[in-house]
Amino acid sequence: MDRLAVEGGAPLFGKVRVSGAKNAALPLMAASILADGPLDLTNVPSLGDLKTMARLLTLMGGAVRASFRGDEGAGPEECLIDMRGLSVPEARHELVKTMRASALVLGPLLARHGRAVVSLPGGCAIGVRPIDMHLKALKEMGADFDISGGDIIARAPAGGLRGAAVNFPTVTVTGTENVMMAAALARGETVISNAAREPEVVDTGRALCAMGARIEGLGTGEIAVHGVPSLSGARYAVMSDRIEAGTLMAAVALAGGKVTLQGAPLASMAAVRDKFGEAGLYMSYEGDDLYLESPGGRLEAVNLVTMPHPGFPTDMQAQFMAAMCLASGVSIVTETIFENRFMHVAELRRLGADITLEGRSAVVKGVRHLSGAPLTASDLRASAGLLLAALAARGRSVVSRVYHLDRGYDRLDRKLNLLGARITREKE
Ligand code: EPU
Repeated sequence: MDRLAVEGGAPLFGKVRVSGAKNAALPLMAASILADGPLDLTNVPSLGDLKTMARLLTLMGGAVRASFRGDEGAGPEECLIDMRGLSVPEARHELVKTMRASALVLGPLLARHGRAVVSLPGGCAIGVRPIDMHLKALKEMGADFDISGGDIIARAPAGGLRGAAVNFPTVTVTGTENVMMAAALARGETVISNAAREPEVVDTGRALCAMGARIEGLGTGEIAVHGVPSLSGARYAVMSDRIEAGTLMAAVALAGGKVTLQGAPLASMAAVRDKFGEAGLYMSYEGDDLYLESPGGRLEAVNLVTMPHPGFPTDMQAQFMAAMCLASGVSIVTETIFENRFMHVAELRRLGADITLEGRSAVVKGVRHLSGAPLTASDLRASAGLLLAALAARGRSVVSRVYHLDRGYDRLDRKLNLLGARITREKE
């Protein structure tokens, strides 16, 4: 297992390219199950969850040719997936427990193969995270489910899934993607109300359209999918990662410096840009380059409430809170998406942060200095928040359980080092 040793206090300077989006690449890889030909994905980031998804598809009998090189400067990676040989429509517990997004194969398997066995995901570090809304929607499309031995045993009706009116009581990102993928091959029309408007959902819909699907309303709260008899393979470039871009933005806010993010998905980052702008981070744009410059003094404390898109993303909450630890004033950070996404709070306190939890809110009183400490990562975005705080802390910090970070970021430590950070990867 790896850990990261960080010598704090080095400002960041230079240019860095934003990688492809994990949360778009995951449903796109699952969508390959629907296709009658190979799906060729480009701009695929090299990170743990995508390697897990590649393994899952391979275990099903698919052929996945991916160049996850893992070397700095290797450039965007390509992933060619051919699922025509699929013979085992199953996602077993060993993989689902390490990556909940494995549930994304359920809709495509039911639509294309009429049956699926998917281990029921348990809770995780950020909350209970059930998939009841996915199951209810697929039931409305005619699917039938049994739970046995911790697995969901799913079957489509004899004539295949049928279109339905699906109304999600709360916004669900992978739920919307699962239903959209299933509906692409269902008979008739599916209308998804209260659909997720996240850019990754739009990217998934666009890729499905490139494969021959008929989808309207992407990016709105109502998506209509007209089922087609088959989908073809396609070549598709994954959108760039707004959360990685936001994380690097938080890094500049904390460590200081002047950095250009190349290929940032600016249109999908409005809420994050607005918040960091309000806090005093200077930004300018040229094409899809985002130039960032930290203010001379401290950031201003600003309040934050996480919301579904276009609101402020929960996946940026920990990183923004880390930035608020050194801001001038008091910031109230409220998490509305997940019930337990404050695991980083206790660790940030170990660096000297002044944070109190009040239900779903964290009250962050900015302090003048943080000082290095041993830290333990608990989940993906929490690890990012801790790493960034360590960049700004005086002295040395060691972040352990870094596999959480590697699950979702494409060599974040190396990218930060290219900009002048002093991070060393060590074996625990
Ligand atoms: N929920 C239910 N029942 C369901 C589905 C969701 O109660 O059937 C609840 C969840 O427990 C949560 C809320 O609804 O409280 C919203 O969850 P959502 O379904 O939108 O989350 P998700 O689809 O499981 C995706 C991302 C997460 C991101 C959330 C919210 C992927 C693979 N994962 O998860 O990303 O936090 O949307 O934007 O797209 C991450 O990258 O670190 C990450 C956790």
